[in-house]
Amino acid sequence: MMSIKSILLWRILPSIALALACFVGYLSQHELPLGLFFTIIIPASNGVLPPQIFGHGKMKGTPEVPDDLSPQPRPENEMFLTLPGSGDLMPQNGVGMCCRPTAYDDELVYRSTLWYLLLGGRHIDGAQLYLNSKAVGRGIREAMRRGVKREEIFLTSKIFPTHYGYESTMKVVKSELDDLGLEYIDLFLLHFPSSGPLGSPCSKEGKGISQCRKETWQALSELRNKGNIRNAGVSNFAVKHIQELEAMTDVAPVANNQISFSPFVPEKAMETVEYCHQRNMTVTAYMPLGGQHQRSLVMRDLAGLSTKLGKSVSQIMLRWAIQSGCAVIPGTGNPNHMKENLSVYEIELSDAEMKQINELKYNAKGYMNMDTNMFD
Ligand SMILES: NC(=O)c1ccc[n+]([C@@H]2O[C@H](COP(=O)([O-])OP(=O)(O)OC[C@H]3O[C@@H](n4cnc5c(N)ncnc54)[C@H](OP(=O)(O)O)[C@@H]3O)[C@@H](O)[C@H]2O)c1
Repeated sequence: MMSIKSILLWRILPSIALALACFVGYLSQHELPLGLFFTIIIPASNGVLPPQIFGHGKMKGTPEVPDDLSPQPRPENEMFLTLPGSGDLMPQNGVGMCCRPTAYDDELVYRSTLWYLLLGGRHIDGAQLYLNSKAVGRGIREAMRRGVKREEIFLTSKIFPTHYGYESTMKVVKSELDDLGLEYIDLFLLHFPSSGPLGSPCSKEGKGISQCRKETWQALSELRNKGNIRNAGVSNFAVKHIQELEAMTDVAPVANNQISFSPFVPEKAMETVEYCHQRNMTVTAYMPLGGQHQRSLVMRDLAGLSTKLGKSVSQIMLRWAIQSGCAVIPGTGNPNHMKENLSVYEIELSDAEMKQINELKYNAKGYMNMDTNMFD
């Protein structure tokens, strides 16, 4: 009879190693292994069978959109940020398309996009990495069929650093446009300053990451001139990375920096926001509700203000970021949350309430400091 130790050593551990090797092999077959990893791990870690493996359209979380639902009025007192260069107006209140189980089931992504646009929202945040652009595009096109005008929609996408490089950027933007089924993308971002040890077509030619970022920017600038994208920007960039692009000549202005921004981010993030605002760049706050993991801290620290104002904690957080001069892209697949989030144009926080929230700051879990040498 085998002891528990030998069962562990000769049966269980090899099985785990084999399963892991198969999983890594499966991921590495994909054009964007990290994207595929998220489509599996985010639903799985929330106790949901990943649609990528078990099939789309089976998950719950976003109800079907009624066939007779037509576009509702846009929010009253809607606010916008003006992008440098194009003068385009970006609605300050958007919706994000990653990082929750419902963002990885194509049917629910389609419904979320359609719900959001029909409820009056007009700003959608997507990315190559989220592997859901086809479903987002399907939702946008159905909303257009029901009467939403393309020129009112502000759509963002992003290129992941494993694809940095001139030729590769041209291909990624084309592929995003094909997947979306649209003629142009409103804002295209460099997703991260670097992907650390993961290479890119550019780095495989022996070029450094700084050179690869610049070649990517050059390509985005040309695509902007051709009208394939209307604005170019960055995401997770520290001031030093932005300055590198600002030093280039005859290229697009940096129109936007999308960073993790909520009352809980460290001082460093506040400095980045201040720099962008001084340089006339717009800032978009991702994880404006603190993401799934900060939720309990947020609920604890803003409960008092929520009771006093008769508004939800989410609404207070979104309004705080908007009044701090940023756009927000809360992620949700829930139409009730969309309505709640879109209604924050109606709230106004006083200077004293803004100050009270500003003083909550502490180092957020999961906040990535890009201002380290690792991302140079
Ligand atoms: N550039 C980058 O590197 C980067 C990184 C991360 C995220 N992003 C972008 O930023 C977006 C937002 O970030 P995130 O989704 O991670 O974090 P988040 O917006 O701070 O939080 C999303 C979570 O909040 C819940 N939620 C949304 N509205 C709510 C409401 N009114 N009441 C209660 N719960 C609510 C959502 O659940 P329900 O679905 O149940 O509503 C979801 O679990 C992403 O979708 C993505 O587009 C960009």
